[in-house]
Amino acid sequence: MAEKLATLSFSDGKPSVDFPVLGGTMGPEVIDVRALYAKTGMFTYDPGYLSTASTRSKITYIDGDEGILLYRGYPIEQLAERCSFLEVAYLILNGELPNKQQLEQFVDIVVHHTMVHEQLSRFYSGFRRDAHPMAVLCGVIGALSAFYHDSIDINDPRSRDISAFRLIAKLPTITAMTYKYNVGQPFMYPKNSLSYVENFLYMTFGTPCEEWKPNPVLTRAMERILILHADHEQNASTSTVRLAGSTGANPFACIAAGVASLWGPAHGGANEAVLKMLDQIGDAKHIPEFIKRVKDREDHSMLMGFGHRVYKNYDPRARIIQKTCHEVLEELDLKDDKLFKLAMALEKVALEDDYFIKRKLYPNVDFYSGVVYKALGIPVPLFTAIFALARTVGWIAQWNEMFSDPDSKLNRPRQLFTGPTTRDFVPVEKRK
Ligand code: ACO
Repeated sequence: MAEKLATLSFSDGKPSVDFPVLGGTMGPEVIDVRALYAKTGMFTYDPGYLSTASTRSKITYIDGDEGILLYRGYPIEQLAERCSFLEVAYLILNGELPNKQQLEQFVDIVVHHTMVHEQLSRFYSGFRRDAHPMAVLCGVIGALSAFYHDSIDINDPRSRDISAFRLIAKLPTITAMTYKYNVGQPFMYPKNSLSYVENFLYMTFGTPCEEWKPNPVLTRAMERILILHADHEQNASTSTVRLAGSTGANPFACIAAGVASLWGPAHGGANEAVLKMLDQIGDAKHIPEFIKRVKDREDHSMLMGFGHRVYKNYDPRARIIQKTCHEVLEELDLKDDKLFKLAMALEKVALEDDYFIKRKLYPNVDFYSGVVYKALGIPVPLFTAIFALARTVGWIAQWNEMFSDPDSKLNRPRQLFTGPTTRDFVPVEKRK
């Protein structure tokens, strides 16, 4: 079949130029503009990457209009319902679901990397007790490269694997330590008899004084939340990890960069912002007044947990989390939880409001995750850190994928320069 081409023509009489059109297995085709500058002396201009595919990838597929999310081809609904988080992690990292033996082996390796270097615990005491968990995570994850020199050779696949295991295994320990430091309780060592998710909950909520028992409903809810957050194609934090990785930076530094990028309220910080917003609204009777403020351009209020760059339909993760929310509140006998009722009332009003309908603004994953976290007893500032814990799997898979892609290059965007043209230096005494 003849190569499909896109022709770029100019209104000023310049000769037109052709570019190959590339197709993936699903989703929009792309115009390969890599030769654009060589052929025309021009760049593309796409702030915010509204129309730019920054890479090719085989990991996660999103159809934002239909509200579809697939990890390696599998619908998120099936994975969230039937898999453990580590099973999904294996899938995202390796491309296929593990068989029983592969899964056991994978779990065994992760379990045996959950402890952190003892000296790392002293690193925590350099932080203020009230430091935001994301600030601590950025620092501690970046510092892992100072503790694990033996696995930072990015050109060695074995070294990359060990770093991947270390990051996935240690993130729950590091995140739980962040919480323990904050509340002034002793750090809890991981327990190999517990599952990945149980271990995280144990290290977060357990103390040396009491026996801690996992609650299967709550463990399952946390497992589901981690699965839903594990990857989301080329989002801001993943693109940050890839960009940092393209320079040859070590994996710990790249994941720390991803954590920093995730922190913002337009991205992972939204779950925390949703809770703050619900607290601020306080009561369902204040919803109309709040919605009025959101619609007022001068006010700059946003309906946090609504809207998404890619989903112009209900975020499939939000549906699953809403169901999980019901289950958790039922288990904890919190069916009449004020926050949940307020969230549902707010969602209903927004979904029926012309402002949101016209702009295709639907609840995203963060709209209900905060309510679930709150019910699980997780303090609000830790919400985004848990998102980072889960997304570490996706970040590593995407970072690793870069190494197998022959098209990978140093990521170095260009610009449309709008500053002053060349001018001569003026000595200070002669400046006006
Ligand atoms: N509340 C009110 N208005 C909104 C919202 C919102 N949450 N989101 C978008 N809009 C409006 C914009 O003001 C804009 O209006 P206009 O056309 O009149 O100018 C229109 O909807 C389109 O929005 P954009 O900003 O162009 O959409 P973009 O793709 O850049 O933004 C984003 C997506 C950043 C997620 C935005 O919807 C937002 O800030 N939402 C709230 C924060 C949030 O929940 N983030 C989590 C995202 S999911 C995740 O990262 C895990």
